[in-house]
Order: sequence, then structure tokens, then C-alpha cells
Amino acid sequence: MKNVIFLSLSLFLATLSANDKYTDEQIYNKMCIECHSFDGSGNTEKLTPSMIGESQEEIERSLVEIENDKDHVIMKHNRTKILEMGMEYSAKSMAEYMHTRFTK
Ligand code: HEC
Repeated sequence: MKNVIFLSLSLFLATLSANDKYTDEQIYNKMCIECHSFDGSGNTEKLTPSMIGESQEEIERSLVEIENDKDHVIMKHNRTKILEMGMEYSAKSMAEYMHTRFTK
């Protein structure tokens, strides 16, 4: 029984490490779209504001503020959960991805 537990744990860890590099697009589609919507228009039910019309610099500034625990109480919490799931993203490249996606 113990061996089974060990085996599934190492399989789980192997899966995690094989997947530990997600693209910004994969992270957005898995973790952000639910609240921020496919086009950045947000989601009133989730109290999520629209980011349409924000510049890349504004989005990056917000992402840096979230990292540094400045304002953004809800997003700070979300980010912690997202990182716990192994989805690391950088403010700079995520801002670029979101801006490109939202201005299409
Ligand atoms: C459970 C809902 C939820 C999820 C999931 C979520 N967000 Fe948010 N996000 C919010 C809410 C609500 C706010 C506004 C409150 C705040 O800033 O804390 C916000 C704010 C933001 C802001 C600042 C917007 C502004 O104009 O000030 C950015 C940038 C952001 N989120 C990026 C992301 C990214 C990137 C992801 C995925 C990795 C993500 N969010 C996932 C709900 C969510």
C-alpha cells in the first residue's frame, strides 16, 4: 500500500515538473479567463474590472503591484493560489501577452 502511495506521489511530481513551464497563453486560458474574460472585459459577478484600453505599461504596473503586495487584495490572493499550482508568470511577459490579446 505504501509503495502505491509513493509511486503516485512521484508520478504526480514528475507530471508537475514536466509541466512546470506554462506559456502565458496557457496560464491565461487556465487561470485568468474565468474572471478577466477572453478579451479582458472582466466579469461583474466576479467583481473583476475591465482592462480593455489599458496600455501594456499600465497592466505591467498592476502586475508588479500585485507581486509586491501593494493594493489588489483579491488578485494577491489569486496569485498565491496560481503560483501554488506551479504556474509562474512574469509581470513583463504576461502584460505583453494580455495587452496583445485585449487589443485584437
Ligand atoms: C477569481 C477571479 C480572478 C482570477 C482567477 C484572476 N483575477 Fe485578476 N483580478 C480579479 C479582480 C477581482 C481584480 C480587481 C481587484 C484587485 O485588483 O485585487 C483583478 C485585478 C487584476 C489586475 C489589475 C487590473 C487593474 O486594472 O487594476 C491584473 C493585471 C490581473 N488581475 C491579472 C490577472 C492574471 C494575470 C490572472 C491569471 C494569472 C488573474 N488576474 C486571475 C479577479 C481575478
